[in-house]
Amino acid sequence: MPITVSELKNKGEGEEILLNGWLQEIRNLKKISFLVLRDHTGTIQITAKPDLTENYDSISQITRETVLSVHGNLTRKTQSKSGIEILAKSVKVLNEAKSPLPLGIIDPVGADIETRLTNRFLDLRKPEVALIFRTESELLWGMREFFHDSGFVEVHTPKIVAAATEGGADLFQVQYFEKQAFLNQSPQLYKEILISAGLNRVFEVGPAFRAEKHNTPRHLNEFTSIDIEMGFADHNDAMHMLQEGVKSGIRHLVSHAPVSTAPPSAKIQIPEGNFPRITYRECIKKLESKGEKVKFGEDFTPEQLKLIGSEFTSFYFITEWPSSLRAFYTQPKPGDEVVSNSFDLQYREYEITSGAQRVHDPLLLEERLKSKGLNPEDFSFYLNAFRYGMPPHAGWGLGLERLVLIILNLQNIREATLFPRDRTRITP
Ligand code: 4AD
Ligand code: MG
Repeated sequence: MPITVSELKNKGEGEEILLNGWLQEIRNLKKISFLVLRDHTGTIQITAKPDLTENYDSISQITRETVLSVHGNLTRKTQSKSGIEILAKSVKVLNEAKSPLPLGIIDPVGADIETRLTNRFLDLRKPEVALIFRTESELLWGMREFFHDSGFVEVHTPKIVAAATEGGADLFQVQYFEKQAFLNQSPQLYKEILISAGLNRVFEVGPAFRAEKHNTPRHLNEFTSIDIEMGFADHNDAMHMLQEGVKSGIRHLVSHAPVSTAPPSAKIQIPEGNFPRITYRECIKKLESKGEKVKFGEDFTPEQLKLIGSEFTSFYFITEWPSSLRAFYTQPKPGDEVVSNSFDLQYREYEITSGAQRVHDPLLLEERLKSKGLNPEDFSFYLNAFRYGMPPHAGWGLGLERLVLIILNLQNIREATLFPRDRTRITP
C-alpha cells in the first residue's frame, strides 16, 4: 500500500516504502541522483544509485512534474532537511510531464496572476496556493456546523431564475427555451419563500452571478454566497447569527489548521465579543470630521471605507443604511423610514456581508417594488408567498471569497477563487 509523505515520520529505519507523487526537482551527479518527490502532504528526498536502483540510467531523463511511483527503503542516515530520505529500489514513471513547464512550481520568481490562473492546475500544486483552498474548506465546515447546530436547514435553490433581486443592471441573461431567464444574483427571493413555507431557518452555500463590468481586486462575476434567512426574527437576530457564525468558522479553521507549509492560522485571530456597530449617519459624521464630504443617500467610496475601517481592528457592522440605497425587500426602520433595518459586515474597507430585516407586509412590498421602478407582476411568484401568512424575517448574504481574502490577507479576490470568472476570463 502506498503511503503519504507525512506518514513517513512514523516509519522505522530500513522499512520498505511505496510512495506516489510528482517529481519536484532532480539533481544528477556522477553516480548518484537526488530527487524531490512531492505529494499533497509534503516533500521527501529520494536517492537513486546505479547499484541500488533499477534502470538507474533512465532516471536522469525524467522531467520535472512527472508523476512517479517510488519503491525503496527509509533511512535516517541523511543530510536532508527532514532527517528522512528514501533509498530507491525502483522509480516508475506513471505519467510523464511535458517540458518546459508553462509555470514553475518552485521557481523563486513569482509569476503574474494571469499566467497563474491560465495554468491553475500547476499553480495549485504550490503548497501555499493549495493552502488557500484548504483554509476555505475548513472555514466553511466550521460555519456549516454552526448553522446546522443552530437549527438551520441547508437548502439548494434554483440558479436559473425569472427575476432580478439586487438590481437589473448586473444580470446575466440566459435563453431558456422560448423564454428570457437570468442567472441568479442571490438566493434572496427563494430563501424568503422558504420562510413562508415554514422551514423557519434556512441556509445555502451556492454560486451567485453578477454581470458587473468593472474589473477590480474585490469583484468576481461568479462568487460563492453563504446565505441565511430566519423566520420570526429581525436584523439584530441576523447580525448575532452572522457574528457567531463567522467566529465559529474561524475557530474551526484555527483548530483544524491545514497540514502543509507554514500554517496561516498561526497569524489568524479569532475575533472575540460583539462586533462593534456604527450607523450610516455616524459614518458620515466621522468622515466629515476627517474632511470628507458625503451626501446622505450616497454609497461610501473605497477610500472612505478605508477611513472608517481604520477605526476598527477587526470586523464591524455599518447599520441603518438609507432605504434608497438598499434593495426593495429591505424593511424601513419604523419611525425613521429614510433609513432601514439593514447592515453590512465590514473588515477594513471590505464589505463581507449585506443583510437586513425584510419587508413582510405584501402591500408595502409591492409599493417598494414600484418605488424601485420594478413591475410587481414580474414578482408574482414571490409576492404570493407573502399573501397567505408570511412571518417577519431577516437574513444576510456573505461572499465566501471575500472572507477568505481578508482572513489570509490576500491582495486579489482571484487568489481566493479556484477558477475565477471576471470581465475577461471564462477559462479554465
Ligand atoms: O451585498 P450583496 O449584493 O447582497 C445580497 O446579495 C443580498 N441578497 C444579501 C441579503 O441577504 N440581504 O451581496 C452579498 C455579499 C457581499 O457583501 C459580498 O461579500 C459578496 O456577497 N459579493 C461579491 N463578492 C465577489 N464579487 C462580487 N461581484 C460580489 N457581489 C457581492
Ligand atoms: Mg452589499
